[in-house]
Amino acid sequence: MSRYKKDFPIFQNTKFYSKDLVYLDNSATTQKPQVVINEFSQFYENSNANIYRGVYRLSEEATSLYEKSRKDVADFIGAKENEIVFTKNTTESINLIVLSFARSILKKGDLVLLSIVEHHSNIVPWLILQKEIGFKIKYIDIDDTSFEFSNIDLLLSENPKIVSITHVSNVTGIENNIKEIANKAHRNGAIIIVDGAQSIPHKKIDVVDLDCDFFVFSAHKMLGPTGVGVLFGKQKFLDEMQPIFGGGEMILSVEQNNCSFKSTPYKFEAGTINFADTIVFSKSLEYISNIGISKIEKYIKDLSLYTYKRLQEVDGIKIYGLENTSGIYSFSIKKIHPHDIASFLDEDNIAIRAGHHCAQVLMERFEVYALCRVSIYIYNDKSDIDKLVDSLSKISRLF
Ligand code: ALA
Repeated sequence: MSRYKKDFPIFQNTKFYSKDLVYLDNSATTQKPQVVINEFSQFYENSNANIYRGVYRLSEEATSLYEKSRKDVADFIGAKENEIVFTKNTTESINLIVLSFARSILKKGDLVLLSIVEHHSNIVPWLILQKEIGFKIKYIDIDDTSFEFSNIDLLLSENPKIVSITHVSNVTGIENNIKEIANKAHRNGAIIIVDGAQSIPHKKIDVVDLDCDFFVFSAHKMLGPTGVGVLFGKQKFLDEMQPIFGGGEMILSVEQNNCSFKSTPYKFEAGTINFADTIVFSKSLEYISNIGISKIEKYIKDLSLYTYKRLQEVDGIKIYGLENTSGIYSFSIKKIHPHDIASFLDEDNIAIRAGHHCAQVLMERFEVYALCRVSIYIYNDKSDIDKLVDSLSKISRLF
């Protein structure tokens, strides 16, 4: 058994699964360790008050815990504190970049590069803005065999203004070499935005080393609460950006016909934001750091390779991706609908995701409507994969 599993009370939950839950939907969201769950009560019992607004001790305590989270996140990715904006999720982070930064620099006829493996959260905001401005969008394709980006150099030579891509695909699990792509993008004069939602849970991220201009992710995929997203942006870009949400606490002064804003990052955090969950997120980072991100990376890598090897034993399986170290594999099984596979697996207490994975552009490229997907995290182990493969083999024999 994974040595970390005992830290997660959901695996003791007897409501649906007795003690046998095999949870393999970690790309959708991760489970929470007891220390993180306890942190909610700890905060609400001892430190709850609205941040910034009070001059009393309780409010000052909540404010300093919230700002500690910002520092913890900054330290976790090698950024400066004022380069960290808290949002509600990865999607909101991308929307903020698109509606503020991209909207201010793009003109009709400009080119934005996305890739066909992007999640809808990194396609739809661009399509919305495209209707307003009329810029062009081109999609980096993938190689049919390696599943890696194929025509990126060619497209970069067309001088895009912005390249917005995922670090790790939430469907294929293939990792993109961000450092190299960022370097090429910059040499071609482009800004690079990276969706790190599927890489940061198990990979050391250093935004300075990667040299990406923006890097976004969500707390809930890294053992933390829902409702907390992170937008890292290089300070010079954040300083240039206008806020898109106005309201309390993001202002310096307001008059009848004028207002001025606080500095970066406060000008982007309007109203009473999700401070409690953001404070709890710090505990998830502490839990991850106590294990060590490089240890997690190695654990996920080893289990990924085992998963890939074992999945290939299932009759009629087609895996949409190659061996990878991200712990994400999408697949179909001949003649069986992905939703049926997921329902059959649920009868064996195995939770996976089936559907288009919010990546319909990629589904179209693969000429499928839906796929099954397994995604692993630190509480999974080889016995989970063995149960998955036994169950899939049983299902494949039914048809
Ligand atoms: N983006 C999440 C996933 O891929 C929800 O499942």
